[in-house]
Amino acid sequence: MSPKLRRALIITAAVIGGVIVAAVFATLLQQPEDEFVAEQPDEQLVAEAEIYDDIIVPPAALGELKTGITDLHGKPVGVKCSTCHTEGNKREPAADTPAQLSDFHTDMEFDHGQLSCSSCHATDDRDKLKLADGTQLAFDDTIEQCAQCHSSEYRSFKHGAHGGASGYWDRTEGARVRNHCVTCHDPHDPAFPDVTPADPPRDRFFGTTQ
Ligand code: HEC
Ligand code: HEC
Ligand code: HEC
Ligand code: HEC
Repeated sequence: MSPKLRRALIITAAVIGGVIVAAVFATLLQQPEDEFVAEQPDEQLVAEAEIYDDIIVPPAALGELKTGITDLHGKPVGVKCSTCHTEGNKREPAADTPAQLSDFHTDMEFDHGQLSCSSCHATDDRDKLKLADGTQLAFDDTIEQCAQCHSSEYRSFKHGAHGGASGYWDRTEGARVRNHCVTCHDPHDPAFPDVTPADPPRDRFFGTTQ
């Protein structure tokens, strides 16, 4: 074997050896295959992009007594609770269940765990809600009150799995539009009403299956 050939062989062997060692290292460094690693967004792009806040659409006349009258746009008209619930006009002791009411709010459906009116409504200011620690809350922040007791639904609501959404999916393009808890759930009788299944979809080849 000529010295030239030998050198060539040694170099080739060294290169192949190097490639094998590198390949072994690369495999060791790789994540195990069954572990899913989501592609990370480009942090700089994310930092530069404007992220639109979700828009939560509250129901019309939230926190007002619905009068049964609708305005020109078909939205319910309400009156503020403090129209009647004034300092000098208090029922003593305050009623806590609909059964104790005889002249007002008597047509209310009330079925929400073991809660009483004062679990949610501030007793000294009927225009406000209250949290368990007594903190008063504007009706606009009702979701915060629901979240206090329903943290897992609130978490899924924030993720978008509960409560539906419309608007933009990509929040760098525009805002996501969300429903309010009390748009779907009556706070006094929150069970979601039973739904009737719709007709099956029309089959593309055979017409409807009914
Ligand atoms: C038109 C007058 C009127 C309006 C507006 C009104 N209420 Fe009342 N409410 C009453 C009367 C009267 C009673 C007592 C009824 C009874 O004793 O049968 C009452 C009772 C209640 C009670 C039972 C506890 C208590 O104080 O006796 C709650 C809670 C309550 N109202 C909440 C509200 C809330 C919240 C609003 C606004 C969203 C509201 N009310 C708007 C007249 C009103
Ligand atoms: C789980 C919390 C909760 C409890 C318990 C509760 N409320 Fe409410 N109530 C609310 C919220 C939130 C609203 C605002 C909803 C809206 O305006 O659509 C409201 C609205 C009202 C209204 C105005 C509703 C309308 O549609 O006109 C009245 C009246 C009222 N509550 C009375 C009572 C009375 C009386 C009790 C006890 C029998 C009671 N609430 C118990 C949370 C509660
Ligand atoms: C003070 C605690 C408390 C607050 C505040 C509260 N809830 Fe509840 N909620 C309960 C309890 C207790 C139950 C009954 C759970 C059970 O029966 O397993 C319940 C049940 C429910 C249910 C299931 C009803 C059913 O029969 O399937 C819904 C939906 C609901 N709440 C929605 C709401 C919404 C919306 C709000 C805000 C307006 C709210 N809750 C505020 C304590 C609360
Ligand atoms: C788009 C309508 C919609 C909105 C908005 C919505 N929910 Fe619901 N929610 C539902 C439906 C539908 C169910 C399932 C009812 C069933 O299984 O019978 C449900 C179920 C629930 C339950 C009962 C879960 C159980 O295991 O029984 C709770 C509690 C609840 N929602 C709380 C909330 C709270 C708190 C919010 C606001 C943060 C909210 N929901 C917003 C539609 C909605």
